[in-house]
Amino acid sequence: MLKTEPAPGFDLVDDHREKELAAGEVRVEVGAVSVCGTDRETYEYGPAVRDLGLRLPVVTGHECAGTVVETAADVTTLRIGDRVAVETHVACGDCFQCRRDNAHNCLRMDLLGLTVDGAFAERVVLPASTCFRLPDELTLEAAALLEPAGSAMHAVQRSGLDLTGAHVLVSGAGPIGLAALQIARAKGATVLVVEPNPHRSAMAVALGGTTVAPGDGLTERVRELTGAAEGVDLVLECSGALPALEAGLEVTRREGTVVSVGLTNRPLTLNATRHLISRGLTLKGSFGRHIWDSWTELTGLVAAGSVDLSRLVSHRMELEDVETAIDLLTGDACKVVLYPQGVPDQLRATAETLSAR
Ligand SMILES: NC(=O)c1ccc[n+]([C@@H]2O[C@H](COP(=O)([O-])OP(=O)(O)OC[C@H]3O[C@@H](n4cnc5c(N)ncnc54)[C@H](O)[C@@H]3O)[C@@H](O)[C@H]2O)c1
Ligand SMILES: [Zn+2]
Ligand SMILES: [Zn+2]
Repeated sequence: MLKTEPAPGFDLVDDHREKELAAGEVRVEVGAVSVCGTDRETYEYGPAVRDLGLRLPVVTGHECAGTVVETAADVTTLRIGDRVAVETHVACGDCFQCRRDNAHNCLRMDLLGLTVDGAFAERVVLPASTCFRLPDELTLEAAALLEPAGSAMHAVQRSGLDLTGAHVLVSGAGPIGLAALQIARAKGATVLVVEPNPHRSAMAVALGGTTVAPGDGLTERVRELTGAAEGVDLVLECSGALPALEAGLEVTRREGTVVSVGLTNRPLTLNATRHLISRGLTLKGSFGRHIWDSWTELTGLVAAGSVDLSRLVSHRMELEDVETAIDLLTGDACKVVLYPQGVPDQLRATAETLSAR
């Protein structure tokens, strides 16, 4: 699926020349690839992807997992037949940030599906250094979702908090918020969720969250639910709505933490005296996944069954149906997973049931 023109749309091509492998690269047969807001933005040729350096023409798509089918002669870390998930932040490995264990924020970072060819394809060529070898317990579908869910894992890790017995508020119950909810619960927290969309709010309840209505009365209600602490220990802002971030600062207890994951892209007016000094809050952001800590910790939770990424999947379809998938993202759909080798028979029934939802 090629993005060719600086205009809305994708081109489905079946004769795209496959790259020869360069040193350090592997060829991966894509088993499952999920669709996210960035792919929709690429489809629409929106400002956010232009700011991220979208390079045309490019094969789009990035949240993927598959099987290694070829390795360059110098690759020693992977073998043909290995099942892998893929880190979207393609780091140089050599810059100031990479050398300080911040490869997720590499100064010369490529982005899969935006600046280098991505995974809405039957096969993709990748640096072996961006592949994460999977344990047998994970399906390729769950593995494709490690990338978006890993953003939630990273946010929890960056909070630096032990969540045992903690109160966590997740704002925004999209795929990332629903992953954050499951991760926080798996780590022992009670989770409150703010989500205006009733369908998604119901998903949050089904996953063990307690929903709290947004808007007036939110701070009061959170105080009631958190007792003597008078607020939550941690807010994971996963909506990208500026009012949600502002509300997050209000509902956090004194000396608590707010981690911003949703891309608000609008300036926040912050009363530093009130929030950072008097109330002692810590405000942080979280970009991508920490390589490879976020991957290993999340994979452990999924393999142990305490996080179920299949609960984020609302639709399964063929790669050719990507435009339908992108349309679905504007409705109640959660994660749409595309199967470039065809939807497996055992999942086809659920794919149909789910698309009728
Ligand atoms: N930090 C990172 O590295 C990173 C990585 C990927 C995505 N993101 C961002 O994370 C956010 C979440 O991603 P997603 O795929 O789950 O997105 P999504 O759009 O599917 O989900 C966002 C949810 O927030 C809800 N929402 C809207 N306004 C709200 C409000 N005022 N209060 C509470 N909830 C509200 C929406 O109804 C929706 O369900 C997006 O902003 C995305 O761009 C960040
Ligand atoms: Zn994504
Ligand atoms: Zn680097």
